[in-house]
Amino acid sequence: MTVSIGSDHAGFEYKTALIALLKELHHTVIDVGTNSTDRADYPDYGVAAAKLVSNKTADYGVIICGTGIGISIAANKVNGIRAANCVTVKMAQLARQHNNANMVAIGQRLVNIELAKKIVSEFLSTQFEGGRHTARVEKIHKLGDIG
Ligand code: RB5
Repeated sequence: MTVSIGSDHAGFEYKTALIALLKELHHTVIDVGTNSTDRADYPDYGVAAAKLVSNKTADYGVIICGTGIGISIAANKVNGIRAANCVTVKMAQLARQHNNANMVAIGQRLVNIELAKKIVSEFLSTQFEGGRHTARVEKIHKLGDIG
């Protein structure tokens, strides 16, 4: 599969490690940056990775910041994106099975690298269950802007 990946400075170290993992798993990787630990703004990289998923250049996306929170909030502003910030393997599994999440967010300051690798592996190898979950996911995208 093709996987987009992006991080801010606080996720740069894990981005490098997760790119290596993705290549080991024989995925094609599109790295949107950032490319160093120099300060960078997470919305820029979350949205860049998300746009590649939204326009189907990538099948899935992996995004990393300090907590995974800011970068997932930003990615979720892009059409068609369901980015899940996961801190356990179970969350990654359920994000795919129930939410059909197409991006996984990782917090470099919150999970150790071995767990981060397990989360990403689980996310990419788990299928959406469909069924009763399909209409719920569709409802999310029919919402548009509220308020
Ligand atoms: C950067 O210091 C940090 O705020 C950012 O990586 C992220 O954790 C925001 O949600």
